[in-house]
Amino acid sequence: MYLLPSTERPEKLDVSIVIPYTEEQIKNLLSKKKDKTSVEDIIASVISDGDFKGEKDQLLVVHTHGRIKPKHLVLLGIGKQEELTLEVVRKGCALAVQKAKAMKWERFAIITHFEKIKEQEALHAVAEGLLLGNYKFSKYKTEDKTKAVREVIILVKKIDYVKDILAETQIICEATNFVRDMQNENAYVMTTLMIEKIARDVAKEHKLKITVLDEKQLKKIGMNLLLAVGKGSRTPPRLIILEYKGAGTEEATAIIGKGITFDSGGLNLKPTTKIETMRSDMSGAAVVLGTLQAAAQLKLRKNLIGVIPTAENIIGSGAYKPGDVYMSYAGKSVEIGNTDAEGRLILADALAYTEKNLKPARIIDFATLTGAILITFGEYVAGIMGTDKETAKKMYDAGLKTYERVWELPLYEEYMEEVKSDIADLNNIGTGYPNASSISAAAFLSKFVQKTPWMHIDIAGTAWYSKSRYYMPKGGTGYGVRLMIEYLKNS
Ligand code: BES
Ligand code: ZN
Ligand code: ZN
Repeated sequence: MYLLPSTERPEKLDVSIVIPYTEEQIKNLLSKKKDKTSVEDIIASVISDGDFKGEKDQLLVVHTHGRIKPKHLVLLGIGKQEELTLEVVRKGCALAVQKAKAMKWERFAIITHFEKIKEQEALHAVAEGLLLGNYKFSKYKTEDKTKAVREVIILVKKIDYVKDILAETQIICEATNFVRDMQNENAYVMTTLMIEKIARDVAKEHKLKITVLDEKQLKKIGMNLLLAVGKGSRTPPRLIILEYKGAGTEEATAIIGKGITFDSGGLNLKPTTKIETMRSDMSGAAVVLGTLQAAAQLKLRKNLIGVIPTAENIIGSGAYKPGDVYMSYAGKSVEIGNTDAEGRLILADALAYTEKNLKPARIIDFATLTGAILITFGEYVAGIMGTDKETAKKMYDAGLKTYERVWELPLYEEYMEEVKSDIADLNNIGTGYPNASSISAAAFLSKFVQKTPWMHIDIAGTAWYSKSRYYMPKGGTGYGVRLMIEYLKNS
């Protein structure tokens, strides 16, 4: 979708116009006797009957019957002035674009003035609501190809900085939609080798350095946990490393993403109702690709290292088994208590590899790691755990700003006891299971980072929605890109 800034007067445009109104503005409009513009006049006459009060989520399409150039005005309710936030703006704009789509408008215009919200921030939120709300994964629909809206005219008072804000928002939202496409794709298409191909494409297009370790190289250096998880699959594991240099010799931030292309649970097979959405278990990997792509396009002054361990956790005659012991890259032996706790295995090897060979200043990992995080926070908040208090605080702030929120859980020493094994150094399922299993998963990961400040973000609840909510679609949400970019901008 293309966003076109314009200072044109609404009356002059030959497309439908979305106009956001607070409840107060609607009341004022009705009591105002004189000096109404022609647009306000039309609106006043249709709202005097009380059909539109400006309440949140209210949408009313008004036919102008040739009194002005636009055929329709769309009144968008944004609620009470004092409750107006950027999130209300995002949600309202998503409803507006979805309405336009339902009306089969290829273009429309929107007024972007919101009282008491800084113009820059409002514009960013409007663009987010439009670009993210216009997303639909329709690749496999043979009918009902409702066309997405092609262009939205963004009505502003002055043009100067508007273009830059729209361009920036466009980059971030397109990266988010790119992540969504990867999440929603068939598991038999989005294989480890496809993730490698996409990573190579991203690297080529944005001039990033890329290194890919194949199964032979992984074997040679002893990444046996990553290899073990992939043993049942026809598509072999990979470790993919991307590097973006936007800050010369400065130390880098590493972002690691879990890339399980399908999580059947392995021999500890997942039951019906849990297995159906497990093609989304590569969401962390997609977030890494989306973030690096956006960072490169935005020319962020940061050095970033993206690391993706990818494998398929599936049953086959070669599959790894409960009770097996494997030697990790870090040199700690791990008993497989449960083949469904595979995420922490591939991350353990990736964390140790990253710290030892890539030496970043800090590590942040994104992983759809535990069902328990969904039980804890629902689909609204991600869990954050680790050793880097500064990053935790900054991530929390970035979460409030983007509404991709995180909440910290404690990594107390008692949890560390729970990942010990009788026959090996560690067990991949906590002895307290199923109690606190999001935390014991993080406790397991912590054993593979020696001294680098590290935070783990469990996105099992936020990466995938069971139903659509405003600008977040059902299925893959792309959660993480907007959060990471906002964090990087402020770090
Ligand atoms: N990929 C799952 C976690 C998950 C659950 C993601 C629901 C998205 C939605 C992970 O690999 C897993 O299976 N975790 C187990 C761990 C357990 C066996 C210790 C879990 O959370 O049940
Ligand atoms: Zn699993
Ligand atoms: Zn998994």
